Amino acid sequence: MSESKASAGRRAAALRAEITRHNRLYYQQDAPELSDAEWDALLRELRELEERFPALVVPDSPTQRVGAPAAEGFDSVEHRVPMLSLDNAMNEDDMRAFDLRVRRILGDEDEVVAYAGEPKLDGASLELVYEKGTLVTGATRGDGRTGEDVTANLKHVWSIPFELAGDAAPSGRVSVRGEVMLPLAAFQRLNEARRERGDEPFANPRNAAAGSLRQLHQVDKQRLGALEFRAYAVEEGVPAGVRSQIEVLERLRAWGFAVSEESRRCDDVEAAIAYHAEVLVAREAMPVEVDGTVFKLDRLDLREEVGTLARAPRWAIAFKFPPQQAETVVVGIETSVGRTGALTPVAKLKPVFVGGVTVSNASLHNQDEIDRKDVRVKDSVVVQRAGDVIPQVVRVVREKRKNKSARKWRLPKKCPVCGHEAVRLEGEVVTRCPNIDCPAQLKTNVRHLAGRGALDVDGLGEKLVEQLVDAGHVKRLSDVFTLDAETLLRMERMGEKSAENLVAALERAKETTLPRFLISLGIRHVGGGVADVLAGAFGDLDPLLGASQERLEVVDGVGPILAESVVRFFGDERNRAEVERMRELGVRWPKEAPRKSGEGPLAGKAFVLTGTLPDWSRDEAREKIEAAGGRVTSAVSKKTDYVVAGEGAGSKLKKAEQLEIEVLDQATLEKLLSEEG
Ligand code: IVH
Repeated sequence: MSESKASAGRRAAALRAEITRHNRLYYQQDAPELSDAEWDALLRELRELEERFPALVVPDSPTQRVGAPAAEGFDSVEHRVPMLSLDNAMNEDDMRAFDLRVRRILGDEDEVVAYAGEPKLDGASLELVYEKGTLVTGATRGDGRTGEDVTANLKHVWSIPFELAGDAAPSGRVSVRGEVMLPLAAFQRLNEARRERGDEPFANPRNAAAGSLRQLHQVDKQRLGALEFRAYAVEEGVPAGVRSQIEVLERLRAWGFAVSEESRRCDDVEAAIAYHAEVLVAREAMPVEVDGTVFKLDRLDLREEVGTLARAPRWAIAFKFPPQQAETVVVGIETSVGRTGALTPVAKLKPVFVGGVTVSNASLHNQDEIDRKDVRVKDSVVVQRAGDVIPQVVRVVREKRKNKSARKWRLPKKCPVCGHEAVRLEGEVVTRCPNIDCPAQLKTNVRHLAGRGALDVDGLGEKLVEQLVDAGHVKRLSDVFTLDAETLLRMERMGEKSAENLVAALERAKETTLPRFLISLGIRHVGGGVADVLAGAFGDLDPLLGASQERLEVVDGVGPILAESVVRFFGDERNRAEVERMRELGVRWPKEAPRKSGEGPLAGKAFVLTGTLPDWSRDEAREKIEAAGGRVTSAVSKKTDYVVAGEGAGSKLKKAEQLEIEVLDQATLEKLLSEEG
């Protein structure tokens, strides 16, 4: 064996392992480490090696298959027709070479062929199978042959029709393929919420879509509801008389699917190239992420002639957009204070053109992220726009760091807006300004106080709060209770009647309950359930104001993180002053009857919840158990009496079995709940 062949063999094996690892990160863990372009480059290198040394091709080489096998936890579904990938064109020459190959295979280089041009949607591909016009199965691509059955999750994706519409709905089996995407706006909201909770944000909308679709536990219906499906192919059951891709798309639309409205017939390859340039410009305004264009031979009969290889058809190609990354320099790092008090470091960049816009700011999210990437002022960095309107710093170009002794960057100790000491609670990634009167947060806090779950002040909406704060009528939270009709009347679009109504609503809101009052203060981690627990345990506000961390922690349902948050909040003089002022202004509540413990059918029993129950959310199950006198803790231990396990239960269930703790399902729990004490 020649030396070059031996080294090619070693390199091919290394590439196979590397690509397989990245496939797993991408498809199964929704956590890619490589950009698409980097992954493509690895695959291309492997393919070139295999072309030079065909003996190196092994059946499970990544060049011979797509994606990764179905992950555990979902049933697998066999795709009757494999779900293939597409070959990529990176430039116009690649496109012309593709077109020439197609025409050669068809036997006449001089005969032009038309292509259907479509945006390349950057989501997760999905196959939907309909029998007699009704959806029976939805499956992810998986490894192309076998995917995961995600039908149950699809019922929350409103853009997927459960019944095919139209008189001509086919009676036999139809398989429709398309892409599931999380629109950019929803993606940003989701990531913001994840960052707030301290969860790792999704790298891009595609991973967020795939992750949402493949949620096993605690299915988040809202997240699924935000997903959008667009169809682009009918694999089985193409209706008679449909002869081209453009007609396929029309039929899909008639059946009730969303299709890319930008799709268009291109008469030859030059028209296709022009179409690509148009979509590149138009993508900025599109609600979903598009990472290129796809061209498919428009005539379906010709596709069969051109044929398909193991991994991808020869009659179609993806023309990728250039990666939206660029290198620039960090000229400074500033701290912005968000509407929820989060201190966010923002990199000020030397302006750079990336993905069609000039970027001069990039969010660095939080201290952990800065530490992980080790971003310092004057560093050269790679920035990227991955569906985030706010660009990201991907990495520091370490070789270019000139001043090796540049200092690590740290968030300021004080809120840059109000000067109050900033706080990072145990277990959180976000550093916050805890001052409820901080001007950066005041509007949010007033809105929160007026919200339904809090003091429920009818008529104190966002626009009005904006005006009141901007005009200086509300400078601190408690100022809300000083508003009179005269002041309100000076606001835009405020009539006498509305002003009177609002004053009356404020008066009504003052008479509240302790849990609602606690919620209205916006204390970190104090939501509905927790406020009830605190009110039940302390009965009134004053004992709670003086409670120590230790005292709080002995309350059932209060952990160290919540306890710290409450102690810090009430330990803060400004917050105490606000609370006092609100009481002086007439906010009041009846004393809570201390919660009777030790009563009810589940008195004294400790429960742990795990997995997803068929009908109850975790909170609902907790409420029911608590109402029956039981308590719910998070970890399984010898003190646990029952573990309630639903679908997807994992390590807690195992632990219960090890410790021989009784395991209940929803039905047996229901029985226990209804039993007489
Ligand atoms: S056609 C055999 N059309 O890109 C043809 N795919 O890189 C396969 N994709 O697996 C699909 N937009 O998930 C097609 N308009 C489009 C597409 C599209 C995005 C995805 C699809 C496919 C991947 C291949």
